[in-house]
Amino acid sequence: MRDAETATVRLSEYTPPAYLIDEVALVISLEPEATLVAARSHVRRTGDTPAPLVLNGERLELQSIAIDGTLLTTDKYQLEPGKLIILDPPVQFRLDIVTRISPATNTHLEGLYMSAGRFCTQCEAEGFRAITYMLDRPDVLARYAVRIEADKAAYPTLLSNGNMTESGDMEGDRHFAVWVDPHPKPSYLFALCAGEYESIHDTFVTKSGRIVALGIYVDPGDSERARYAMDSLKRAMKWDEEAFQREYDLDLFNIVAVRDFNFGAMENKGLNIFNSSLILADAETATDADFEAIEAVVGHEYFHNWTGNRITCRDWFQLCLKEGLTVYREQEFSADQRSRPVQRIKDVKRLRARQFGEDAGPLAHPVRPSSYQKIDNFYTATVYEKGGEVIRMLKRLIGADAFARGMQLYFERRDGTASTVEDFIACFEEASGQDLSGFMNWYDQAGTPALTARGSYDDEARTYCLTVSQLTQPTPGQTEKNSLPIPLHIGLIATDGARLRTTVEGESAPREEHALVLSDARTTFNFANVEAPPIPAILRHFSAPVTLNDGLTIEQRLSQMAHDPDPFTRWEAGQSIARAIMLSGADMHASALAAALGRELDRAQEDPAFAALALRMPDLSELILAAPMPDPEALFGARETLRREVATELRARLEAIARAKGDASFSPDAGAAGLRALKSAALDLLASLGEEAGDVFEIAFATAANMTEAVAALEALGASGSPAFD
Ligand code: SER
Ligand code: ZN
Repeated sequence: MRDAETATVRLSEYTPPAYLIDEVALVISLEPEATLVAARSHVRRTGDTPAPLVLNGERLELQSIAIDGTLLTTDKYQLEPGKLIILDPPVQFRLDIVTRISPATNTHLEGLYMSAGRFCTQCEAEGFRAITYMLDRPDVLARYAVRIEADKAAYPTLLSNGNMTESGDMEGDRHFAVWVDPHPKPSYLFALCAGEYESIHDTFVTKSGRIVALGIYVDPGDSERARYAMDSLKRAMKWDEEAFQREYDLDLFNIVAVRDFNFGAMENKGLNIFNSSLILADAETATDADFEAIEAVVGHEYFHNWTGNRITCRDWFQLCLKEGLTVYREQEFSADQRSRPVQRIKDVKRLRARQFGEDAGPLAHPVRPSSYQKIDNFYTATVYEKGGEVIRMLKRLIGADAFARGMQLYFERRDGTASTVEDFIACFEEASGQDLSGFMNWYDQAGTPALTARGSYDDEARTYCLTVSQLTQPTPGQTEKNSLPIPLHIGLIATDGARLRTTVEGESAPREEHALVLSDARTTFNFANVEAPPIPAILRHFSAPVTLNDGLTIEQRLSQMAHDPDPFTRWEAGQSIARAIMLSGADMHASALAAALGRELDRAQEDPAFAALALRMPDLSELILAAPMPDPEALFGARETLRREVATELRARLEAIARAKGDASFSPDAGAAGLRALKSAALDLLASLGEEAGDVFEIAFATAANMTEAVAALEALGASGSPAFD
């Protein structure tokens, strides 16, 4: 009987908890197969009428229950699947529950379990209930004090949330540590780790001068490979102070790397737990992409301290409140650490690859779903990545200043609470003075809006009318779709590349780029002072998570590629041209595309990582999705033909890049990684020439000074069909 798991939970049926728990004191006596958990909670009823107390619990062996020191007899409570019901509790009381669990045989990777002989936890979303009986819901915030006891030799390090206040030896070769977290938190942020680790330590001084001790705990022998994670953490802490005025709030911040971990990482208060793959890296074992991911995820989990932990979610429907916002913050962090245009393009590629498919398929769901059976199934690209895009659009719609004011208002007003998307949006309505009720549709409506844009130029009046329409296809359970407010960042250039300064109704001064909003199903924007027939870029910076049919010709896109000031638009134009050539055999443009890519190589020193992205043709999988009647073999052939043509035309320059010696001393920073990315892209393109390319791949492999270069050379060697690959 799995009633507790299969019942549908609905947002519309949210009810506040009948009881609150303000304080939890845990004594956890660790034994792999028989861990005892003694939980003492201070419980109080919220309403006036008596009600049973219903606690969540899974896979627990109940040992005893006491209220205010008196053991409960079995007629005073009921055990049901997933629940412990205390029938007639007082209004306010001290609850003592002792349970027994077996971490060693817990294969759920949820609750308290063991990985490589060490104890660790994962409690989001509903794992705490596998540790003890609890009001295991995010709107119950408690202060936790945790005493961990364990065998001293086997588990020399004992970690939990907050600050360690006491530790010492016990009888029987055991020892203990007491951890107190002063910040009220929901149970899903509880964490415990115990075992033998190697660790590295550092400090961070906050902007108000407090010293925070930082530690990263890893498997013995691995600690040197955690240096980049530590460096990323310090940069993230600094960045959050500068970009969002957020200071860290405990004396300690620890990260533990765990081999068996279902999520990438988890933001437990003061004790982040990571999958080892997102902590450990060095030049010999990790590529630049790995370093980049470590920086991003370390940042992400750290940023949750404010967006997720200090302000948490009222219920799991509000997951995007913490995840979308934190993804946005993580993306901004990465953009500031690296190349902003490249970050944006990578984020867009990821969104299109993962989220657009979700929106188009049977599992389409809104950023904030309205019902679920298992919340575990909603840790999706829609909640995370589209959730991040929604925040980005909010900033575009109300402007950067109002957005910054709204964020500060949110941090002040909602600190220490379990909040909703409505609470969040209210701060931005107040900061901007705008009615954002229409914007809420972005949270509650599934599907990717499809935009169509067509313009007409009047060369006598020097005006340009651009009509843009939106349509969102029905998704399962949502047949009627509303029009959404869609931010459009529009810029017009002339065929020769001149940036046209124009005015749109409602704007006072002429501009090169206009921040406009499509609110209705269809709107015509009238541009004046348009001095030449324009080529419109309608979605500069990818200003909204939509698809766009703009009807531009390949010639117009070639002009965009050469001249549009927005790197995203230039990249997008190149990709569209390549796609058109590969899908419809418009080979006569291949040479022009090669020339345009040559111009990106000319300016590659400005941003080598961008040039590297520009050189990469759309993947086969993307072509298969875009083709009306996909024939994978033919598409593969068309792709290779175009790559060969481009490589042939750019050969001398690509070879110069591919043969350039890398820096002997490895640095994982963005500048050095950008140069390596360009070299990898050059090798990849040259591979299309096959054996004609000569010894360039072998030499690149033989001289590779790090994993990134070695992998790129090996891939190119394989793709080129060279016998040396064997
Ligand atoms: N809350 C965790 C994270 O966002 C699990 O996904 O990293
Ligand atoms: Zn997260």
